[in-house]
Amino acid sequence: MSLTRLPGMIDAHTHLRDPGATQKEDFYTGTCAALAGGVTMILDMPNNPIPTISFRALKNKQKIASEKAVCDYGLIFGASQEDNTEEFKKIIPKVAALKVYMDQTTGTLLVEKLGLLEKIFRMWRSEKPIMVHAEDATLAKAISLSAFYKKHVHFCHVSLADEVELIKRAKEQKIKISAEATPHHLFLTENDRKRLGPFGIMKPPLRSVSDVQALWHGLIDGTIDMVATDHAPHTMSEKKSNKPPFGVTGLETALPLLLTVYKQKKLTLDQVIKLYHHNPRKIFNLPTQKNTYIMVDLDNKYELKNKDLKTKCGWSPFAGWQLYGKVHEVVLRGKTVYKNGKILAKKGYGKNIIS
Ligand code: NCD
Ligand code: ZN
Ligand code: ZN
Ligand code: ZN
Repeated sequence: MSLTRLPGMIDAHTHLRDPGATQKEDFYTGTCAALAGGVTMILDMPNNPIPTISFRALKNKQKIASEKAVCDYGLIFGASQEDNTEEFKKIIPKVAALKVYMDQTTGTLLVEKLGLLEKIFRMWRSEKPIMVHAEDATLAKAISLSAFYKKHVHFCHVSLADEVELIKRAKEQKIKISAEATPHHLFLTENDRKRLGPFGIMKPPLRSVSDVQALWHGLIDGTIDMVATDHAPHTMSEKKSNKPPFGVTGLETALPLLLTVYKQKKLTLDQVIKLYHHNPRKIFNLPTQKNTYIMVDLDNKYELKNKDLKTKCGWSPFAGWQLYGKVHEVVLRGKTVYKNGKILAKKGYGKNIIS
């Protein structure tokens, strides 16, 4: 078997659930899943049960991550409906980005009032991106805030053809924005909802075939800059309950899915690396990881099985899929941290890339 060497992938949108929801995932299992998926750097979202919206909560998460992570990471601060803009100055040097939830999703963070949104944009005195959850018409609100306040807005999980169109127009106007698409919005459609049941429920929801086509088109023409998983684990029993929470896992499947598309000649290897390594690094101004690479098998298919997953919740919407690009080895800063299904790094080997 011949293996191909690629750079470590960078996933700028993950929910590792630590602290507060460690029945779903924690900083150890989440970063193990990252390594198994060829990802050597992740950014972690702030929508924990006690959200990362204060200096204190940020410090606490930094400590937890430093004790448990096996891949490198950066933390994302959350904007709060209770106005936490006072904290910005102190936390800006310690985080990778700000997250603003402009639509309802998992957790309690939601900022809807225009006055507060304006204050957040004004007070974010940083080149670091303001990541937004802004679906459909909300996306237009975020574009105008970006234009008026001259702040870099990064659109999370773009999923609609209309959103792709608006982002394209805004980029033509030289508004400072960037955008990501998730593997589930690229590889699944609303037609998969029935088959997947609660395991196909997430925000934004799976979209129509024509939306998915538009998303691929945007990815290839550069309107969509990058891929990020929005790895959002929930336990099987939570998912099977009467009120299944939103979100699906993704860290262990994103790269193999992209490499499977490479095998089908729909993307070049350079495009895959651009989408899941170079562009996230550029957009979030992340440091290079020295002596870091992964070895993947581009020759043989394997079946993705839930039982092989490292994510604590133990399921993927892509279970049963035949994929190329299995990750065989991960070398992080000169050390083999993952090989043939085994995590070789000690808890805490992962570094905070921001501070
Ligand atoms: C995410 C989660 O569970 O934290 N869920 C989701 O469906 N995407 C929140 C989010 O990214 O909106
Ligand atoms: Zn979201
Ligand atoms: Zn998310
Ligand atoms: Zn590189």
